[in-house]
Amino acid sequence: MKFFIDTADIDEIEQARSWGILDGVTTNPSLYAKTGGRLADFEPHMQRICELCAGLPVSAETCAKTTDGMIADARHLHSLADNIVVKLPICAESLAATHALAKEGIPVNMTLVFSAPQALLAARAGARYVSPFVGRFDDIGEDGIERLAETVQVLRNYDFGHEVEVITASVRTANHVTQAALLGADIATVPLKTLMQCLAHPLTEQGVAKFDADWEKVKNA
Ligand code: E4P
Repeated sequence: MKFFIDTADIDEIEQARSWGILDGVTTNPSLYAKTGGRLADFEPHMQRICELCAGLPVSAETCAKTTDGMIADARHLHSLADNIVVKLPICAESLAATHALAKEGIPVNMTLVFSAPQALLAARAGARYVSPFVGRFDDIGEDGIERLAETVQVLRNYDFGHEVEVITASVRTANHVTQAALLGADIATVPLKTLMQCLAHPLTEQGVAKFDADWEKVKNA
């Protein structure tokens, strides 16, 4: 499974990149707002991420509400850097936009996907990536992994005539990562905090402490 980082924070992206595990970046308006960035800085900020992650897909979202608006924003965003993937929320307008953009070779990441039929429609319309959300189901007391399993399976059942990858999104825990990988999801987009959770294990920490203590004994023998 490929790892994307789910952030617009440059330091976090640099950290994940230094680990050699980074396959892409996803951002959204909330993640950009979290950096404290202003509207005027949005495009240079995205360009900086794209340069830092040259050759890797970097999702940038538009808040346009019409098909024409989405297409115009998508063309503009994609002109900022070759590796920009345009993120559109699933709806009738974004399906039409995706259909047009796919013909132009502009990749779309269909976001806010919460059901298998939404995922099928996104893939059929030409989306390069489909992003089912997991954690937001858990937030409302439902099982996000069960929903993810349905989406992974229905997309696997068909050849859409173009490459479609599932990005497991709204990942909040290391267990979400485990379950996404067990289901064979192509990608998980994971916040740095959750990547850190994936890295940690109490037995690893205990093991290091024991080795350090024993090595002190060796040094003092
Ligand atoms: C990624 O593409 C999504 O925008 C992101 O994973 C949403 O995560 P959240 O539900 O934690 O906001």
